[in-house]
Amino acid sequence: MQDVKYNDYLKEVTEILPSGSFLTVKSGNKVNTMTIGWGTIGFIWGKPIFMVAVRDSRYTFNLIEESDQFTVSIPFDGAMKEELNFCGTRSGRDYDKFKECNLTAVPGIKVDTPVIGGCKLHYECLIRFKQAIDPNNLAPFFDEKWYPEKDYHTLYFGEIVASYIDEQV
Ligand SMILES: Cc1cc2nc3c(=O)[nH]c(=O)nc-3n(C[C@H](O)[C@H](O)[C@H](O)COP(=O)(O)O)c2cc1C
Repeated sequence: MQDVKYNDYLKEVTEILPSGSFLTVKSGNKVNTMTIGWGTIGFIWGKPIFMVAVRDSRYTFNLIEESDQFTVSIPFDGAMKEELNFCGTRSGRDYDKFKECNLTAVPGIKVDTPVIGGCKLHYECLIRFKQAIDPNNLAPFFDEKWYPEKDYHTLYFGEIVASYIDEQV
């Protein structure tokens, strides 16, 4: 693994993220990963921050609520499409996604949550702030478009404490 600055790959992240990356969470001995398409990297509170958005209905939501950290693993060059599809359509409540997709949980360097082997770029984050979306503060057309079932996201702002690329990938 080779350390990179949190903002070295902003262009790649913003281009790749919408088609899918892995958000991995751990609570006790339970580990789960799900596909995310939304997120931002920026600078707040004097720190580099990765913000991810998790709907209340996700198993990931249950685990991240019991945790203070998460990791994001980003596959490059259209890699891991099948795995992203599985992890973005099945729930960890019903499947062990690591087993089903043959995913490798690579231990985190600074956090106790693994990253996903086979991905080029990894971020390890400690949650410093979270906020459930309040529909009263949301543009009505976003509310109608994205939340017809009122399954709102909670936004998790994680301080990026490690970012690195896997030169083997
Ligand atoms: C390309 C793609 C992007 C997605 N982005 C998000 C996201 O940003 N936030 C979210 O809550 N769900 C997102 N999902 C849906 C979850 O990945 C999906 O509901 C998953 O099955 C939840 O798994 P879990 O129940 O194990 O947490 C996305 C799905 C796909 C296919």
